[in-house]
Amino acid sequence: MTPDIWPAPTAEDLSSLPLESLLTREYETNPAHVHERLRAAYGPVAPIELHGVPVWFAFGYDEVRYIMQNPDELWSKHVGNWRAFAEGRIPADWPLIPLLSADNSGFHDGDRHRRLRGAWIAGLLEFQEPGGEHTQKLERAIMRHCDDLIGVMTEGMPTGWADLAAQYGRPLPLLVANHLLGVTIEAGEEMVMDQWRLLDGPDAAGAYQRLNAALLELATLKRHQPGHDLPSAMFAADPALTPEEVARELFMLSGFLDFTGSLICNVLLEAVGNPDLRTSVSSGQIEELVNRVALLNPALANLTFRYARASVKLGRFTIAAGDPVMLSISGAHADPLFASALNRNTVRSTRAHLAWGAGPHRCPSQRLATQMCTIAVRRLLDRFSVLTPATPLNQLPWRPSPFIRALRSLHVRFEVNPNAVPVSRPGPATAAQEPPPEETNAGEWRPSSRSGFWTFLRKLRRGQ
Ligand code: HEM
Repeated sequence: MTPDIWPAPTAEDLSSLPLESLLTREYETNPAHVHERLRAAYGPVAPIELHGVPVWFAFGYDEVRYIMQNPDELWSKHVGNWRAFAEGRIPADWPLIPLLSADNSGFHDGDRHRRLRGAWIAGLLEFQEPGGEHTQKLERAIMRHCDDLIGVMTEGMPTGWADLAAQYGRPLPLLVANHLLGVTIEAGEEMVMDQWRLLDGPDAAGAYQRLNAALLELATLKRHQPGHDLPSAMFAADPALTPEEVARELFMLSGFLDFTGSLICNVLLEAVGNPDLRTSVSSGQIEELVNRVALLNPALANLTFRYARASVKLGRFTIAAGDPVMLSISGAHADPLFASALNRNTVRSTRAHLAWGAGPHRCPSQRLATQMCTIAVRRLLDRFSVLTPATPLNQLPWRPSPFIRALRSLHVRFEVNPNAVPVSRPGPATAAQEPPPEETNAGEWRPSSRSGFWTFLRKLRRGQ
């Protein structure tokens, strides 16, 4: 299929068009309905506003895929190419400015982007190599963290209530981050708490400062005392990288791990909300289920902007040079051109979706994120014989966000499977806070303070 995109001489004035606000209660609760309405009114590209700023919203499958695959030729990710921003027409306190103007690989093009992306690919290699020593070690650690979280969630009770989002899906990837970063569990807990505060508050500004400082300290240490971890492998791949550059890349992890937590929750939702699916997932099809949910309910629903380098026809509009375009993965997946080819009543699903991006910015961590989700879901389904949603599925609370599709909570009633035993050491209050000696990396970072991470999780349990 060739999308309706070619250079065009005259362009629309985006700010003079009627703009539909995207961040509404309706979009939060029923994005599919909004996509449908916008598609009927505008076709595959619509003029919208985000917190009062005009933006193009691309949600046709062909248009989104085409732009993803051609960023350097026609599309930039660098905020300097946003005309309204360069002309000072975006308010300084517009909430998305700090994200869009971040100085990291996600917002650079060309050689600068390629160099930083190369470091990511090299850094993630040993954690993603199928069957590799560090991949297996990480998978065992993920499994233990699953059991630690389940231990706190159940507190030895055979039945009860739990919030699978706050008590399991969201904290799990943040714990896994410790292994990627090569920090002790103790140091990592402090960062885990700050990553959580950064996303949800309170004290998001303080958490931002502390996290930046901690990551710079960590990157500086890894530069001189490498271990088997992401920052050390990034330096090994490109010795010219500075600790500041690596720290800025590592800062992106909070967001990526939040997407991973959101995908875990979206898969759990599908698994607990659909008893038929539960039967098929228990027969070893969880990875397929993860792919299916990445397609039908992608955790990263919309992407940060691309800026048109030249005036270009897109859908029914001509986009002016310097205009921002937000790519919608969930909108593209719902495009009848793509969705009509899917069979929604089967566990098998296509891989031709855009949940991991495409082209030069495609996610370099798809395998690792899929593994985290697969292990998390499999472990939960193994350890519980009953998981029943406590809230009607059409009344679940979603987090308001222009980018992610994430549950605020997923309350369930559980019954522990008496035949499934934890693989890890029992009782996160004691042993889970320290890794066994064989999991300790060389060059580990050990600060003195102790965080209240597990206390925080226990309070969530008691609060119910
Ligand atoms: C479910 C979890 C995840 C999803 C759905 C996801 C999806 C994506 C998508 C769609 C992109 C492309 C963004 C764009 O084109 O603007 C991307 C980029 C990226 N992802 Fe992931 N990701 C996930 C987890 C992770 C994790 C765990 C890591 C790291 C450990 C990671 C590292 C990256 C990096 C570094 C990029 C930027 C690549 C570049 O600009 O060249 N992602 N991800």
